[in-house]
Amino acid sequence: MKALGIEGTAWNLSIGVVDENKVLSHVSTPYQPKSGGIHPREASQHHADNIANSIEIAIDKADLNPSEIDLISFSQGPGMGQCLRVVATAARTLSLSLNKPIIGVNHCIAHIEVGRWNTGCEDPVVLYVSGANSQVLAYRGNRYRVFGETLDIGIGNALDKFARKLDIPHPGGPEIEKLAKKGNKLIKLPYTVKGMDFSFSGLITSAENQINKNKKTNLAYSIQETSFAMLTEVTERALAHLEKNEVLLCGGVAHNQRLTKMLETMANERDSKLYKPKPEFLSDNGAMIAHTGLKMYKAGVKHTPKIKIKPDYRPDSVEVNWR
Ligand code: ATP
Ligand code: FE2
Repeated sequence: MKALGIEGTAWNLSIGVVDENKVLSHVSTPYQPKSGGIHPREASQHHADNIANSIEIAIDKADLNPSEIDLISFSQGPGMGQCLRVVATAARTLSLSLNKPIIGVNHCIAHIEVGRWNTGCEDPVVLYVSGANSQVLAYRGNRYRVFGETLDIGIGNALDKFARKLDIPHPGGPEIEKLAKKGNKLIKLPYTVKGMDFSFSGLITSAENQINKNKKTNLAYSIQETSFAMLTEVTERALAHLEKNEVLLCGGVAHNQRLTKMLETMANERDSKLYKPKPEFLSDNGAMIAHTGLKMYKAGVKHTPKIKIKPDYRPDSVEVNWR
């Protein structure tokens, strides 16, 4: 079967075409804000302007005729309502015009499923870290349960927010990583883990308040050391509690080498292994939506073209019947 997936929950409009074994094509058209963070209306306009063309190119690059696509899947949520609406409308139109089934996919679960597919890990504790989301999840009893999560903002948005204070354009995460590599002094910042949940806004406010007193390299270094230690601690506790031996790191912040190293050290010390998908599957991408849609469809999930968007769609609300 060949599935076309549309991703567009936030900054990246991305179309992927996959079959059961491989990615046939992948076309990403990112939205880059002129200033500040992601503006939902601008991002949705960007998606609307580019979606028809991107779909055409993706089908063409996969060397297929539109009629050879067997399934349309799209990211149903969580995400920015205006962006989700553009994506869902395009998916429904395509499904109706090609007379092919449609599947709405949970974006967080797609990050996990494409990670399992790309790395070959089977039953991991997942650290999913992106702009809007930060969660520790694992599969238990037909669901991806959330064992710990952020109580306020996602770690990616936290890094982007601090970067904006330094006039670094969006997305700031990669630039913070570069600065942090040059830092060497650990500045005390709030380390907030409550039970299995964590919080980043106090840490970022504290760092922002110290911009005039410290080198930005040391602040970037300290933000990373503190926040990544919090994420690693909670992931380790989930690993111990669930008695698993695989850790899967996914989401845009997973590009970060320091976070990867910390998790790798922790996993090795617990006789476990860290798995990380290839870079093209870490950030938001259409292939993850196509792949997950295909798995769901083959497991018997049926949706109608009337399917609605879910801006607050939680991964633990989805019954996972394909594992
Ligand atoms: P979601 O809807 O899952 O929250 P998203 O829209 O935030 O996804 P992603 O591509 O998953 O999109 O993640 C983007 C985030 O990843 C941004 O906040 C960006 O700063 C961050 N990021 C990317 N590369 C790095 C890096 N090397 N170090 C730290 N953060 C990074
Ligand atoms: Fe994402």
